[in-house]
Formats: sequence, structure tokens, C-alpha cells
Amino acid sequence: MTHDIVQAGIAHAGVMEALHRDSFEARWSKQSFLDLLAQSNVNGWIAGSTAPMGFVLIRTAADEAEVLTLAVGMPYRRQGVAQSLILCVLKWLKESAVEFWHLEVADDNDAAIALYQSLGFSESGRRAKYYLSPNGHADAILMTKQVSNFSSISDRTR
Ligand SMILES: CC(C)(COP(=O)(O)OP(=O)(O)OC[C@H]1O[C@@H](n2cnc3c(N)ncnc32)[C@H](O)[C@@H]1OP(=O)(O)O)[C@@H](O)C(=O)NCCC(=O)NCCS
Repeated sequence: MTHDIVQAGIAHAGVMEALHRDSFEARWSKQSFLDLLAQSNVNGWIAGSTAPMGFVLIRTAADEAEVLTLAVGMPYRRQGVAQSLILCVLKWLKESAVEFWHLEVADDNDAAIALYQSLGFSESGRRAKYYLSPNGHADAILMTKQVSNFSSISDRTR
């Protein structure tokens, strides 16, 4: 399935706040999204221009990018929304100077780990007890993808 994806602007801060609140225990305010979106090296994308289903925010610096946050609303999960968002960002990064895309994910977040692995991210490090979790603490797994190695975007879009 393909999804309608648009580049985000400050008008999307409220939508991002709502999607983020439904996905994470640690809440980010609308103001924090406004502040991030105002930064020239932060870019975001929204899936579903009329009925927002999910979003991703990234930061770029020199030849590196990092995922700041990614969330898909509960009713829209397992429909390829996150995959479409990441493939859209990869296409955008391939046209920029970015070579390495990094992210951090809690080691108990099986859904996100499976998502990133399915798109070719691999573990590049760990931070012990990095996140607070319902079970106490969770390690952060650092994952990285070399952007130029990804050459079959259209083949992988469903
Ligand atoms: C992780 C998250 C973004 C995935 O979004 P999604 O739109 O449901 O993911 P997709 O439908 O694009 O899934 C693509 C692939 O990822 C893997 N995947 C996604 N969710 C999964 C789950 N719950 N269990 C196992 N694998 C999963 C599968 O390989 C899936 O392909 P398939 O459906 O053909 O098997 C979503 O669950 C979410 O918002 N979670 C809460 C916030 C979060 O954890 N964000 C990431 C922080 S690093």
C-alpha cells in the first residue's frame, strides 16, 4: 500500500503532538514541536495529508541524519505507514549530502526494531539503561543505515 506523504511545517505541530502523545509515555509539548520545526536542520514528513496517520522528524548535520521521533496512530498501524515514511525520507536523503542515517530505539520496542531491520538498519552500538520503561529501564540500541547503499526504493514501496 502506498501512502500520501507531505513535508511537514509548523502548521503540523499540533498533529505531531497528538500522534506523539498516543505513542509515547514521555509527552512532547506542541511548543517543543514548533521549536524543532523552526530549526533549519530539522525536517518532518506527515503520512495522510487530510487525515494524519503518522509522522517522522529527522535532524541532519554534515553527512549524518538522525531520527528524532517517529509515530503512527494506533488505528493505522501494520498498514505500511512507517515504512512509507522511512522510504520517503531515504529518497530525500539520497538527494542530499547525507551518507549515514542513525537512530536510537529501546531494546524492548520489538515493533520498531522489526521495522528498522526490515529496512536495512543494523545495530551499531548500545547505551545501557538509557530509557525509563514500565519494567524499570531499557537499553538504547543504536542503529545505522548507509544511505547510498539503498538503491531500490521503488521496489520496496508497497
Ligand atoms: C513502530 C511503529 C512506528 C511502526 O509503524 P507501522 O506503520 O505500524 O509499521 P509498518 O506497518 O510500516 O510496518 C513495516 C514492517 O515493520 C515491522 N513491524 C511493524 N510493527 C510491528 C509489530 N508490531 N510487530 C512486529 N513487526 C512489526 C514488520 O516487519 C512490518 O512489515 P509487515 O507488516 O509486512 O510484517 C508504530 O508501531 C509506532 O508508532 N509505535 C509507537 C512509537 C514508536 O515506537 N516509534 C519508534 C520509536 S524508535
